[in-house]
Amino acid sequence: MISQGNVRLLAAVSGALLAIVAILSSVFWLWRTVAEIDRKPPQGGLKEQLMHRKTSAMQDILDGMIRGDLRRVETAADQMTAYGNTIKGYLSTAEYQKHGESFRGAVDDLRTAAREKDMDTAKEAALRLERSCLECHVLMNQRVQ
Ligand code: HEC
Repeated sequence: MISQGNVRLLAAVSGALLAIVAILSSVFWLWRTVAEIDRKPPQGGLKEQLMHRKTSAMQDILDGMIRGDLRRVETAADQMTAYGNTIKGYLSTAEYQKHGESFRGAVDDLRTAAREKDMDTAKEAALRLERSCLECHVLMNQRVQ
């Protein structure tokens, strides 16, 4: 027979065990979170920052085109040129080189057209630029798989 004393003891022991497990798991969680932040600082690595800026420059270009604000398009295209120069280092194979060239060609045309307020040419260049992002990235993704 289990006595009442034993039941109370059992309850106390399991309560204490639960508390220990709870404390341990919060410590573990905290430790993991800190380790995660150490590995991936919130502000991101240089490359990551650069690439996010590349996407946001593309958004600025599209937004500027849609609103007919070619000054904004020109500024974003200037930024894009700078980001393009930085990815050049990665691109050693012929295929990447080809897409890299269409990227740079499109950015150059876009800058010139925006400066000259030539909406039609700017539109074509923006589409080519966007196409070059997709071509190069789809190619890279296929390599990874
Ligand atoms: C000629 C090839 C090429 C073109 C064109 C290109 N990129 Fe990239 N992109 C790269 C490379 C290389 C990386 C770095 C990949 C890596 O090492 O993780 C990269 C990384 C990125 C990333 C980060 C991806 C990630 O995994 O976090 C984004 C976002 C990005 N590019 C957006 C763009 C946009 C937007 C455009 C067009 C305006 C563009 N790219 C055009 C080659 C290209």
